[in-house]
Amino acid sequence: MEKLEQLYEGKAKKVYRTDDPNVYLVEYKDDATAGNGAKRGTILGKGAVNNKVTNHLMRQLEAREGIPTHYVQELSDRETLVKRVAIVPLEVIVRNIAAGSLSKRLGLPEGTPLKTPVLEYCYKNDELGDPMVNEYHIAAMGLATKAELETIADYSFRVNRFLCAYLKEVGIDLVDFKLEFGRLDDGTIILADEISPDTCRFWDSKTHAHLDKDLFRRDLGGAEEAYQEVQKRLLGQ
Ligand code: TMP
Repeated sequence: MEKLEQLYEGKAKKVYRTDDPNVYLVEYKDDATAGNGAKRGTILGKGAVNNKVTNHLMRQLEAREGIPTHYVQELSDRETLVKRVAIVPLEVIVRNIAAGSLSKRLGLPEGTPLKTPVLEYCYKNDELGDPMVNEYHIAAMGLATKAELETIADYSFRVNRFLCAYLKEVGIDLVDFKLEFGRLDDGTIILADEISPDTCRFWDSKTHAHLDKDLFRRDLGGAEEAYQEVQKRLLGQ
């Protein structure tokens, strides 16, 4: 597969066209941003970790849980072939333990276990700062149909159940995470984007140490090491 021109550059990834119109090439960067681009920096080695961790988790989700994903083939440390989709403009957040914006909004101390998982949607729009929306906003704005949203919610809870158990085995508590979904040409909804320490809160089960991007967001230090640790626990290298 040939790497052709760059189509898009996001905060953490670049996307290239390939000689197959239905396949794109994603390249993961070490650039880190937080607060909707307000804070910028670099986490050395992050791109390679996020690429490998995402691909590993997507392969598990496909094979063991039957969740369709955009993953096609890992080409190198930072490059992966994915199916071309039209991204549904929603950030789908699942939470098991209170942290981050939920803790702020509801006054729940970080670390408070939630009695049941919480599903939230944000409208992907940088200018508006990705505002939270509910099913009614999504239908009213035509962001997704009711049937698509049912599929997205079902997949998201299944991803949560699978990942909670899978990560527990390597001593990681899955606090919360963000997913994105896309549509294939025939309308099929599949899991897209990434599942990585950039997009999940991973806490060490014993020490509750952050093993994720909160180390960067909150200037706690040790982000490089934490990303490597997640890769080591999941991929053994
Ligand atoms: P939050 O507590 O800031 O709302 O974040 C919830 C989870 O979603 C956390 O694991 C980080 C992830 N997330 C992203 O990946 N991208 C985003 O733009 C936001 C706001 C959160």
